[in-house]
Amino acid sequence: MRVALITGGTGGIGLATARRFAQDGLVVAIADLDLTAAQHAADGLPGHGHMGIAMDVTDENAVVAGFEAVETRLGPIHVLGAFAGTVGNGPDGRQTTLTETTADLWDKIFAINARGTFFCIREYAAHRKAKPVEHGRIITVSSSGAQLGGYQSKSAYAASKGAVLSLTKAAARELASWGITVNAIAPGPIDTPMLRASRGPAPPPDTNYNALDLLPLGRIGTPEEVAAAAAYLASIEAAFVTGSTLDVNGGLRMQ
Ligand SMILES: NC(=O)c1ccc[n+]([C@@H]2O[C@H](COP(=O)([O-])OP(=O)(O)OC[C@H]3O[C@@H](n4cnc5c(N)ncnc54)[C@H](O)[C@@H]3O)[C@@H](O)[C@H]2O)c1
Repeated sequence: MRVALITGGTGGIGLATARRFAQDGLVVAIADLDLTAAQHAADGLPGHGHMGIAMDVTDENAVVAGFEAVETRLGPIHVLGAFAGTVGNGPDGRQTTLTETTADLWDKIFAINARGTFFCIREYAAHRKAKPVEHGRIITVSSSGAQLGGYQSKSAYAASKGAVLSLTKAAARELASWGITVNAIAPGPIDTPMLRASRGPAPPPDTNYNALDLLPLGRIGTPEEVAAAAAYLASIEAAFVTGSTLDVNGGLRMQ
């Protein structure tokens, strides 16, 4: 039985991916800030044996303890989905311009998106070094905002997700000889609480996205469509794919 750990697992994309992994037969640990929400989400997954844990990815000790708890209960983690993230906008969705971005805000966004992803990748690698698994997989989440300079997000978010892309490639190179693949998904606008929080004070009705006309497919995406990409990257069949970025963006950016 393959085991997956998903950070940000009660969020829109994280939970859809947890559901998809569970449907595909994986045992899933859902990690997020709130223990009750994580446990509730795990209880709602199809199949048996899933668990929810509290894990703040910005807290190095919490990440170490979280991996330990999951491996003790479920066994070695095969698939890490590092999905925890923040866009860092205010509660009214207002975007922070360059000159308004304080050092504190920059650090907060980087602590979750970049450093948190690093802590999780490092911890996963340390566990796999001690106890190797077949078909190890790491999936990170960047953003089309990193590739395009953001639309609804601003500099700190775009830069932190750019860091995720570079980290993904470096980890892919370093962990390749252990049979572990490391790939990023770069979603475009996906209908989740984060997108709703980032749409700004005067969103166009029913779109959740301010630049819908830039999307060739003419709509925003669903969390399930990102989950399907994650399911592929997690699969054994994806063994020859590493260091790549899978765009799930409705054509917003074409390489
Ligand atoms: N929704 C989009 O349009 C979109 C586009 C591109 C990239 N993304 C990325 O996809 C990922 C998932 O986002 P989503 O849209 O599902 O957003 P979401 O807000 O629904 O989910 C994010 C989850 O991360 C969790 N989280 C935040 N800080 C955390 C921390 N310190 N430790 C642990 N968990 C923490 C939140 O509690 C939440 O459950 C994020 O990395 C996001 O940047 C989303």
